[in-house]
Amino acid sequence: MHVALLGATGAVGRTMLQVLAERRLSVDRLTLLASPRSQGRSIRWGGREWACTVAEPGAFRGVDFALFSAGADRSREWGPRAADEGAIVVDNSSAWRMDPQVPLVVPEVNGDAARERPRGIIANPNCSTIQMVVALEAVRRAAGLTRVVATTYQSVSGAGETGRAALRDELLGNRPEESPFARQISGNVIPQIGDFDAEGWTGEERKMINETRKILSLPDLPVAATCVRVPVEVGHSVQVMVETERELSVDEARAALAAFPGVVLEDDAGRYPTPLETAGRDEVFVGRVRRDPFLPRTLHLWVVSDNLRKGAATNAVQIVEELSGA
Ligand SMILES: NC(=O)c1ccc[n+]([C@@H]2O[C@H](COP(=O)([O-])OP(=O)(O)OC[C@H]3O[C@@H](n4cnc5c(N)ncnc54)[C@H](OP(=O)(O)O)[C@@H]3O)[C@@H](O)[C@H]2O)c1
Repeated sequence: MHVALLGATGAVGRTMLQVLAERRLSVDRLTLLASPRSQGRSIRWGGREWACTVAEPGAFRGVDFALFSAGADRSREWGPRAADEGAIVVDNSSAWRMDPQVPLVVPEVNGDAARERPRGIIANPNCSTIQMVVALEAVRRAAGLTRVVATTYQSVSGAGETGRAALRDELLGNRPEESPFARQISGNVIPQIGDFDAEGWTGEERKMINETRKILSLPDLPVAATCVRVPVEVGHSVQVMVETERELSVDEARAALAAFPGVVLEDDAGRYPTPLETAGRDEVFVGRVRRDPFLPRTLHLWVVSDNLRKGAATNAVQIVEELSGA
């Protein structure tokens, strides 16, 4: 199989290469694309060196799957061209996610949606949305969903390599040359990811709201989110309040979560998942399952996952696996 990575040198692109090496896909040819800054750089993968080049017309001919993680502008520019050249595009950016002709796919939740792709493009959802909808789908199948309220604790690698570098610089007492954050991130928490809209919601919060409803095919589901950046290197945590159609006991919720593909339940007394302990894993970890003390049919969950893996690279590679029958 011939796989192209646009954004091969970034935080997600490099994780894609790791995930591709670990899983069961038989990739025998890679096309590695990045910005002109990386032209000529070579990356070792599968026992040989692969040179990075810049995307140009014809770059996607003969490519089976093109995995994009180079930002929304590049995805808008290259997505339709790669599809025209015959590649199936799996895009990690926000460019195509809400396009009605582009399926937004989390394989454990709506894997079949990837088969219907009129533009030849499949979108990977936002990282915190992916991990949340995996847990929500487990609850939905047990008792239905009527409302979701989430608060996130998102790591700096969610803002790419510059986010990681900014935290490291600040921890060393240096002022970063470039930072994607609105404030100093070390020793801080920042309740802003993306720009504010006229109603006071940030871009990241709107993504969680809109994408959750699209993935779950529940266009009227009430969803609210507060997205917060925290000084953690890798791994997002989401506190989810979920109201169900039917009453669900904590034991029933735990059983539904534990049985759901891709979920690891860590919810014994004193045991719960943290980003530091689950970074590098592909699953979605759930703990702290509680019933609300006052609101009927309402549960609280703590959901943790590696944003570069399940939140991006692993989810994209799972889509490729499903479509290629690997
Ligand atoms: N980080 C996450 O947790 C996460 C999760 C889900 C989705 N995403 C999405 O994935 C995308 C990449 O995120 P990231 O975190 O990997 O960012 P990153 O670390 O900043 O990497 C960006 C990548 O894009 C490449 N690039 C930049 N300008 C380019 C150009 N003009 N032409 C071709 N390639 C170009 C960069 O190449 P150079 O190295 O040459 O500059 C690099 O490979 C974004 O759309 C992001 O929203 C990220």
